Amino acid sequence: MIPLSLAEVAKITGAEPSLVTDPGALARSVVIDSRQAGPGALFAALPGERVDGHDFAAAAVAAGAVGVLATRPTGVPALLTPDVPEALARLARAVVDSLPGLTIAGITGSVGKTTTKDLAAQLAERLGPTIAPHGSFNNEIGHPLTVLRATEATRYLVLELSARGAGHIARLCEIAPPRLGVVLCVGHARTGEFGGIAQVARAKGELPAALPPDGVALLNSDDPRVLAMADRTAARVVTFGRGGEATVRAADVRLDDGGRAAFTLVTPGGTAPVRLRLVGEHNVTNALAAAALAGELGLPAGEAAEGLSAAAPRSRWRMEVTERPDGVTVINDAYNANPEAMAAAIQTLAVVARGRRAFAVLGPMNELGGESRMRHEEAGGLAARAGVAGLIVVGEDAAPILSGARAERSWHGELLGVPDTGSAVAALGNLLEPGDVVLVKASRSAGLERVALALTGEAAQ
Ligand SMILES: Nc1ncnc2c1ncn2[C@@H]1O[C@H](COP(=O)(O)OP(=O)(O)OP(=O)(O)O)[C@@H](O)[C@H]1O
Ligand SMILES: [Mg+2]
Repeated sequence: MIPLSLAEVAKITGAEPSLVTDPGALARSVVIDSRQAGPGALFAALPGERVDGHDFAAAAVAAGAVGVLATRPTGVPALLTPDVPEALARLARAVVDSLPGLTIAGITGSVGKTTTKDLAAQLAERLGPTIAPHGSFNNEIGHPLTVLRATEATRYLVLELSARGAGHIARLCEIAPPRLGVVLCVGHARTGEFGGIAQVARAKGELPAALPPDGVALLNSDDPRVLAMADRTAARVVTFGRGGEATVRAADVRLDDGGRAAFTLVTPGGTAPVRLRLVGEHNVTNALAAAALAGELGLPAGEAAEGLSAAAPRSRWRMEVTERPDGVTVINDAYNANPEAMAAAIQTLAVVARGRRAFAVLGPMNELGGESRMRHEEAGGLAARAGVAGLIVVGEDAAPILSGARAERSWHGELLGVPDTGSAVAALGNLLEPGDVVLVKASRSAGLERVALALTGEAAQ
């Protein structure tokens, strides 16, 4: 972060100093967890789900924080503002505006944002110092905190833009205006909250709409709803995708026994071979998006291909493959789920399992509104048609997966509905044999990582 005095922070945010004795004291970082507060930190007090940050203001200052950004006095040096997230947003924008050498790229879409962000960041790092959020730190708090990490040395900010409703992405684009914007896909994730897929498309389109005329909109030409966003941007359009018409595309895609894709990266600047370390064919599209973005930043195709081939997964529980000593392969994809990601995971399970017995442990996909039952039934059908040896469905909310699988009359695998993750682990104990492959997947709140971690022998977190 660029050091800012408390007086400067007050000026930028419009906050009112209270008990501040040294307005020249420099804030060198902004933290929202008092346990991370040390000398030079500015502690932003936020109301949490269980605790209120204001209760930890004194502890943060005792640990060395120069002050707190808060909505009410807490007996320590503070900058008081009615809206702490808004103050963080203003700080972030001020930092961005003071760094003319910074190039900002935003990535949005219904699935694959974190994966693509991690890949793109690893490519941008080859060109210069890059800052990207940890994990999915992509909401109205995480976004400004990530931006605030930038300094004069930073060349690239690679940001993940997530939306839970209309206007969210536009707002994130105001906090840190991107010159490059990637849209991956418009899928069924969170259609319940948005009201339908047309609304999802409109919200994702806020990113291309926010780009300047000298910017670049990178659009997935395999998804007609994304390609249509070319009409909503003043920026130059570059396409990526599996189809032959894409500017950046993949030729000769093949999968190894582990479900990892190899392909020839085809760009206007040249072609180069890629061998991904990430599991699942769906990652080809994520890789193409990252390569297209990096190409626009100036990375030659050969280097992009090298970078993609070297890129390791950075964010956990996304198609994380563990080989157990007894020969059982565990695919932990318990980070999240929606219909597109579920389909991709089941397809990958079938590839990895080729010739071995496949088991799927599936839980609910949240936030699908009126489509929920149908989408769960479809997932059950997919698993059955993929020929899994066993399907274990966890929790009442996921029950339509059972009926979807049952409807596939030609499938005769083991079908089990269990109430919770503990029962799923117990059931697997009886079913699994050396050589089997197990996929574990559900929305985050279902906690199915407990099943995966029990299977791999890691302690549950
Ligand atoms: N292109 C894709 N098509 C289908 N599924 C995908 C694709 N990319 C990633 N996935 C799957 O989607 C899930 C989430 O991936 P990732 O975390 O990259 O997405 P995200 O868009 O960041 O999600 P979130 O909205 O939760 O932040 C994982 O299970 C991953 O395997
Ligand atoms: Mg994410």
